[in-house]
Parts: sequence; structure tokens; C-alpha cells
Amino acid sequence: MARQSTGTAITGHGVWHPETVLTNDELVVAFNEFVRRENAKHPDRPPLKESSSEFIVKASGIKNRYVQDKTGLLDPERMCPNIPDRPEEALSVQAEYSVNAAKRALARAGKTGEDIDLVVLGCSNLQRLYPAIAIEVQEAIGARGWALDMSLGCSAATGATIVASQAIQSGSATCALVVVPELTTGHMNWRERDSHFIFGDASVAMVLEPVEKAKPGSWEILSTKMLSKWSATAIRNNLGYLTRCDPATANNDDKLFHQHGRKVFKEVVPLASKFITETLAANDLTPDKISRYWLHQANQKLNEVVAEWVLGHVPTRQEAPIILDEYGNTASAGSLIAFSLHSDDLAKGNYGLMCSFGAGYSLGALLLQRM
Ligand code: COA
Repeated sequence: MARQSTGTAITGHGVWHPETVLTNDELVVAFNEFVRRENAKHPDRPPLKESSSEFIVKASGIKNRYVQDKTGLLDPERMCPNIPDRPEEALSVQAEYSVNAAKRALARAGKTGEDIDLVVLGCSNLQRLYPAIAIEVQEAIGARGWALDMSLGCSAATGATIVASQAIQSGSATCALVVVPELTTGHMNWRERDSHFIFGDASVAMVLEPVEKAKPGSWEILSTKMLSKWSATAIRNNLGYLTRCDPATANNDDKLFHQHGRKVFKEVVPLASKFITETLAANDLTPDKISRYWLHQANQKLNEVVAEWVLGHVPTRQEAPIILDEYGNTASAGSLIAFSLHSDDLAKGNYGLMCSFGAGYSLGALLLQRM
């Protein structure tokens, strides 16, 4: 079968993260102090249980994460990052995250902001609904054309890349920038033992062009696939513009990230492994033909099991790199960060598969070949 192609390629990519490192030990000290204070304050209630670094590493594989601010989230009385609001004339924090990664992706592609005529921002959380943050990024880098924000949980970044690729295929863009400003520490419930360790902050960006314009070393996007399947309770955050309309529930915990981790694990393994296998089969490829799997970075065990279902063996870190030990779960940015940090060593002609899975459920895959 003749290999299919989208006719588009990833010609530049780059990762950025804030400098502040937050270790499991620091996190656990603050959490346990919060637990002691709460239990002392409420002797009548069932006591809250403490967290531990051993559990976090064992359950998730996460050792560190980068964070925008740790003063607020390590303060047992606050347990929320301190991120000062900015005047409307200043660059917003998520636009700044986007620009930081975009500069690296543009430099690698040998492009300037003026070359870009589409900015697609994909992110699991948007700090405001309008004007689109992507338009602010477009202005900040001096891009032309048009820009839009995309929300799709942990598949927002792969989804944004697919939209950018399709815009180039349809002729509505000639050089597109995808930006993924995952400032996830703002949506976490730092007081909840089951999830207080999960996320970290980082941004990633990619430049996409028609394949004829791509230099050797770029990554041709052979095919793309998306899938969504409704799950009302698996992974959710109900914060939105209607939150203030019901004061009785406005400050409830459901207005932060919450999930049923076990349920997610059980449901995502078959869903994601079937999705990957079908994507490869549709391209007449077997799993062993793929040199690298850049999988969503939520949980190391989850990645190992998904890859095991696909490959028939637990993947080596060479086959399916892990970045969550250093970055934590960076929501939709994870698979793109894994790609950006672990793709340079692959040879011309090698295949790689980027795949995200997350809230919705939502899944996104890009089958790539090194040029
Ligand atoms: N410290 C110590 N113990 C903890 C703890 C903590 N922070 N949090 C939970 N525990 C305990 C639980 O109380 C439970 O104890 P029990 O067996 O005595 O009841 C035990 O550890 C196991 O808890 P559980 O929640 O079942 O752990 P898990 O092994 O399923 O791991 C997740 C939890 C969230 C890491 C895991 O389920 C996961 O990653 N799922 C996939 C989530 C995902 O990918 N989400 C996508 C988000 S984008």
C-alpha cells in the first residue's frame, strides 16, 4: 500500500518551563502540615490522612515538577499558587508561556513570527475565554493571518496540531504555530491527597509547514486520528463563567481538577491501546515498525500498560520515553514535550507515534516519519 501523507510536516519544536522545581518531599511536608492543622481544628470529623513521597513515586512515577510559584502552594494556610493578576495592557501569563516556547520552535524552524499566518493554541485550561489568548500570542510574535484557542482536555495539544495540519492542507494557512501553555498548577486541588502531586507547569510549541518546504530532519505528518468518548465523571473541572451564578456551589471542590484515578486507568488502557493499534493498522504498519512512542505523560504505569497492550512487552524508555518523572503531568503538553526532547536521535525514515489520552475522554494521534 502506498504510504499516505497529510502533505504537512513539523519543521520546528521547542519546550519551555518555569525555573522553580518542586520536589515530592517539599510537597508532602506542606500537605501533611495542612492535614495536621485540619485534624486539630476538626477533632469531630474523620481524620484526614497524610501523603507520602514513596506513594507518589510508586503510584505515578513523578519525582519532581516545575511550577510557576511554590510559595503559595507550600503555605498550609493557602495551598494555591500565588500568580499576581496583570493589567489588561500587559502580556497575560499564558501568552507569555506560549511565547517562551514559540521562540524556541521558531528558531529551530529558522522562522520569525512574521512567517506565521496561523496560531492554534491548545490547552486543557484557558485563563480567560475572550479575547482568545492565541490572538495575543499572534500579536506578541508579530504573526499574520488568524489565531484561535482550542479546548480538549489532555488532547488539546495533539488536537491543535491536527487542526494546524488540516489548515495547511486546505490552504487556509501556509506556516502554522501550535502553542500549548499548560500552567496546570492553577487548576489543582492541593488539599486533596489523591491528586495533590499530579501536575506541573510547562509550555511547548511546534511549527508546521507544507512538506515541500520542510528541511531534512523535519517530521512528516503521515496521518492523524482523533477520537472522543463522553465520560461524565472520570476527569473533570466544572469551573466556568456560570460558576458565580450559584453562590451555594461556587467554591466547591468540583471547581478544581478532580478524577477517579482507578476508573481512568481501567478505561483508558483498552481505549488508548485499541486507538493506537487501529491508527497503525490504517497505515499498514505493525507496532514493531514504530521506533518511538511519545505517549501522554500522566502516569508511568499507565504508559507502560498501554504500550504493553500495543507492543506485547513493557516498553523500554527508548521505545516510549518518560518525561513525567521530571515534569509531572503537564496535561496536553506531555506527549509533545516527550517528542520534542526525545526525537533528535532518530534516523531518516524512522516512524514515530505521538498519542494523547485524557479528559472527555479525548484521544489524538499523529503518525510521523523523519525526513
Ligand atoms: N499518599 C499516600 N497514600 C495515598 C495517597 C497519597 N497521596 N493517595 C492515595 N493513597 C492511598 C489510598 O488511600 C489507597 O489506600 P487503600 O488501598 O488503603 O484504600 C491507596 O493509596 C491506593 O490509592 P489509589 O487512588 O487507588 O491509587 P492508584 O494506585 O490508583 O494511583 C493515581 C492513583 C491517580 C496515580 C492513578 O490511579 C492514576 O494515575 N490513574 C490514571 C490517572 C490519569 O491518567 N489521569 C489523567 C489525568 S490528565
